[in-house]
Amino acid sequence: MKTTVVGLIALAWTCVNIQSAAAYQRDTDHFIQAIQKIENSGLELSPLALVRSLRRAAGHDDAFTQRFLGATHNDSETGILIANSKNVEAWSLEFLSFFDKAIHNFVTDAREERGVVLTPDGTTVALAPLLQGIEAGLKAQLEGHHPEGLHFLTLARTLGLSFLHAFNSSSAERLGPDGCWDNVSAPMVFTLLDPPSLATDALINGGMDGAILGAHISDGAQAQPKLSELLKSYYHFQLGEGGLDEAPRLVSPLRRENYRKLVPPSVLEGMVLEFLADRDPSAELKAAVKVGVQDFVLRYLDCPPIIPRCLWGAKIPKGIPSRLSPPLHFIYVHHTEVPSRPCLTFKQCSRDMRAMQRFHQEERGWKDIGYSFVVGSDGYMYEGRGWWRQGSHTRNHNSFGYGVAFIGNYSASLPTRHSMSLVRHRLATCGVIGQFIQANYTVQGHRQVVNTTCPGDALYSEISTWEHYGDTESSKATNS
Ligand SMILES: *[C@@H]1O[C@H](CO)[C@@H](O)[C@H](O)[C@H]1NC(C)=O
Ligand SMILES: *[C@@H]1O[C@H](CO)[C@@H](O)[C@H](O)[C@H]1NC(C)=O
Ligand SMILES: *[C@@H]1O[C@H](CO)[C@@H](O)[C@H](O)[C@H]1NC(C)=O
Ligand SMILES: *[C@@H]1O[C@H](CO)[C@@H](O)[C@H](O)[C@H]1NC(C)=O
Ligand SMILES: *[C@@H]1O[C@H](CO)[C@@H](O)[C@H](O)[C@H]1NC(C)=O
Repeated sequence: MKTTVVGLIALAWTCVNIQSAAAYQRDTDHFIQAIQKIENSGLELSPLALVRSLRRAAGHDDAFTQRFLGATHNDSETGILIANSKNVEAWSLEFLSFFDKAIHNFVTDAREERGVVLTPDGTTVALAPLLQGIEAGLKAQLEGHHPEGLHFLTLARTLGLSFLHAFNSSSAERLGPDGCWDNVSAPMVFTLLDPPSLATDALINGGMDGAILGAHISDGAQAQPKLSELLKSYYHFQLGEGGLDEAPRLVSPLRRENYRKLVPPSVLEGMVLEFLADRDPSAELKAAVKVGVQDFVLRYLDCPPIIPRCLWGAKIPKGIPSRLSPPLHFIYVHHTEVPSRPCLTFKQCSRDMRAMQRFHQEERGWKDIGYSFVVGSDGYMYEGRGWWRQGSHTRNHNSFGYGVAFIGNYSASLPTRHSMSLVRHRLATCGVIGQFIQANYTVQGHRQVVNTTCPGDALYSEISTWEHYGDTESSKATNS
């Protein structure tokens, strides 16, 4: 009986004969296609039975998970017909291997993280906590109660284990890092940028998405959503001219906003402590959890999501720009003017970044793209020279502040409210708490210190209403 569900899916799997596991690209597109093949196979698996089978295939059927979601070996009770074939075992092996590779999360000695996929918005997501959140939501909706264990399974467990590990071994990181794909057009290998914690960025992204989608499903009165439809609407949406200002609420670039609304930091801290309660945590460990959750809030909720250089395809700098001495006092606002159109997708924004870097390095003769950070209209910021390296953005002022450019021409129109908020609220808060920007910082338009029309009349008039906007006189006072 144990192979019933898995065996049935394997049957469908083999019949549709999709590409072999070896050719499988690690992106949501390929994962969703694989899911659709099972959904369309005529097996009539319910969405819940499907995610349970995936959990089983990925070997995520430990006691803690079972406490909330039940054991998958009782699944003959889900009312699925029993496969009438003696080859079920062989098919299940192929199925198990495929989804085990896709979902099972671990980091190799070479710092390759497995069980993660690249999403169209340029972030990388671990599938295991995503699917467990969805499973908790589907189960709750079916049974008509609140999703049990939703936040433990998606994020609190990951954070608890990571904080505990970091507490025990003082050299271990407690959060992150992000990583780089071998090729974003055909992603196969995801390599972490630094030594891994037990809470990599991908586990945290997947955990937040799982919690958001699980809570959404359990609230819904409608029929159980198909897994492929759910993932498509969340990851494969198309933004119109209004960008995220006019997007549905449940799309992946709004992950941080949605998660913050769903789980206040104090509640998250309480859940991490509850997860650790069995281990009888000392006062020191409790204090470490508090600091850990604060660090989580800063890095994953307060700070804007920033696409690292490797993901947009940056060339290496031609020489190393001088090092800044943060905290700096200024944020200089620019528009790129060229490209003149706002970018609405990771692909387009990345192309714009590469074009600007090429122009700055080859035409201007600079070491690197000039800006410290660049803002897309896709919900993301893009790493230019970053927090530590002096930019080439605001002549004679580059050592005093960070140059932040909005992609587009904002002479006559404004960037989306969402992308302005990434700079005005997220980047500024992140920089101040992270001690890159002074708490009394000043925001200026490029034109206030250099003879230029940048950042465009419309954008300039907008930033002159921001609370940290400062005029030229006060900047002179601070600089001298
Ligand atoms: C942390 O250390 C305690 C004892 O100090 C030990 O019982 C526990 O297993 C350790 N946990 C981890 C995750 O290393
Ligand atoms: C990345 O993958 C695409 C699509 O398969 C391919 O055309 C391209 O050459 C690859 N790029 C590199 C640098 O390997
Ligand atoms: C930017 O927009 C303004 C106003 O619409 C226009 O006059 C200007 O030519 C544009 N600049 C570029 C480089 O397209
Ligand atoms: C802003 O704060 C810094 C210390 O963080 C201080 O040195 C500086 O004088 C302050 N500037 C203004 C204009 O208040
Ligand atoms: C500023 O630039 C404009 C156009 O390039 C030029 O006509 C003007 O003389 C400049 N003003 C100063 C003060 O340099």
